[in-house]
Amino acid sequence: MDLCEVESRIRYTPLQNRIMSAMDAASFIEDGMTVGISGFTRAGDAKAVPMALAQRVRESGESLHINLWTGASVAEQVDETLTEAGIIARRLPYQTNKVLRDAINRGEVMYMDQHLSLTGEWVREGQLGRLNVAILEAVAITEQGGIILSTSVGNSPVFARYADKVIIELNCNQSPLLEGIHDIYIPGPRSHREPLQLWDVRDRIGTPYTYVDPNKIVAIVPTDQPDNFVDFAPGDAETDRIAEFLLDFFEQEIELGRMTYTLRPLQSGVGSVSNAVLAGLSRSRFHDLLMYSEVLQDGVFDLLDSGKLNFASATAISLSPRRGIEVMKKLDEYRDRLILRPQEISNHPQLIRQLGIIAMNTALEADIYGNVNSTHVMGTHIMNGIGGSGDFARNAYLSIFVTKSTAKGGKISSIVPMASHVDHTEHDVEILVTEQGLADLRGLAPRERAEIIIEKCAHPSFQPALRDYYEAALKGGGQTPHVLEKALSWHARYKETGSML
Ligand code: COA
Repeated sequence: MDLCEVESRIRYTPLQNRIMSAMDAASFIEDGMTVGISGFTRAGDAKAVPMALAQRVRESGESLHINLWTGASVAEQVDETLTEAGIIARRLPYQTNKVLRDAINRGEVMYMDQHLSLTGEWVREGQLGRLNVAILEAVAITEQGGIILSTSVGNSPVFARYADKVIIELNCNQSPLLEGIHDIYIPGPRSHREPLQLWDVRDRIGTPYTYVDPNKIVAIVPTDQPDNFVDFAPGDAETDRIAEFLLDFFEQEIELGRMTYTLRPLQSGVGSVSNAVLAGLSRSRFHDLLMYSEVLQDGVFDLLDSGKLNFASATAISLSPRRGIEVMKKLDEYRDRLILRPQEISNHPQLIRQLGIIAMNTALEADIYGNVNSTHVMGTHIMNGIGGSGDFARNAYLSIFVTKSTAKGGKISSIVPMASHVDHTEHDVEILVTEQGLADLRGLAPRERAEIIIEKCAHPSFQPALRDYYEAALKGGGQTPHVLEKALSWHARYKETGSML
């Protein structure tokens, strides 16, 4: 890499003498430390120093364990390599890597799966202990020493402020055009802080840079590694059906006078269903849309390009490899229609309630009463984590959950008598959609919810057994009838026979 380019990006000249290699910077990390790294949905993550740390441990054979905090999921190679080197003792608040997931499920890594809006509050108030080192990816350092983050903001501003030492990975592969897109705001201390003065998705309330005391910056590491862009599974006939049900539902809400064709600000989880919904929106009659979400995927930029979407606010830009290169080249064209905020702000309960967000998130399974499990396979094994789904579901104007009605080739029903783990209670789930249909649960009691969920959302091959279960449950009475001895028998049967049928 051209070192001059790195120096030109460090516009606060006193910091130019802190440039060093990733391996030298990794020497600031010692056994037992807590390390916070940038990164959200594999965008804008610190990559070089964590990888150098893993190399050091592998080569030296030293025993080194750290608590690793991030924004959300980070580059596959970072979580994977650190796990394989046995470095991660404790991890929070979200992950998606298979090697790490297996280590968590074996009990080797302690994983604290946390609402993504909360980590910043906890770090500020010392509820998680001391943060020793923060490693943040940046595209530039301003004349005043402000850090210009890259493709995600996540928890980086709070890590920068509270860490004892800060390492900057200055990534020349990331576009300098990202400068000006961020809006960094750190809420004040509780209990008397001001409400957030953000009245519209497009409002800016902070600064384009993250402030770090320059004396705390111990290393600046030049890198040129691209983001580990995400290639999501392509949509299929079922995700398209889910999208169609949702768009029809929005049309009905408009007919009832509850919304207009501009809808309400949208949040959409990550994945193939979300992309299908976004693709459906681009072909629809909806217009002048706004997004207040966590992650901006390919579909969001398609909507911006088509003119359907006026503005998008999130905490990360996480794109497929092809789209990533295109978008980064023409960031100037999106500049006035894009803001990246700290995850505490993108997911803030006050703002989600106040802005009236339509939240769309994904369930692994839902029960007949509408309790949703988004995290635990068969109630025990973590998949990814709750992410921001809880932040949005509890506070949204409309909380929508989507899932295919079956999994594993039809052997698993995603609609079950009792959810084997509950992330989102019946109180936070208003609309449930599968490729079979859409259940509008607003204003319904549990007994009414059960009937409509079985009718509209369950796969036909599981409907008779669900009806039998519910009828047997009714005999015992109750606000939320169950046959406790059988409530989890579907999961037990799957574990025993490989099928819920
Ligand atoms: N029981 C067991 N396994 C199930 C299942 C069920 N009811 N439903 C799905 N699965 C399995 C799938 O077979 C698949 O397994 P594989 O990886 O071995 O192929 C895996 O779970 C993922 O399912 P998939 O249908 O591909 O869905 P997805 O990629 O859309 O992910 C979640 C679904 C729930 C795991 C994902 O959306 C998530 O982690 N959500 C929580 C965080 C969140 O909502 N973030 C956004 C907030 S802004």
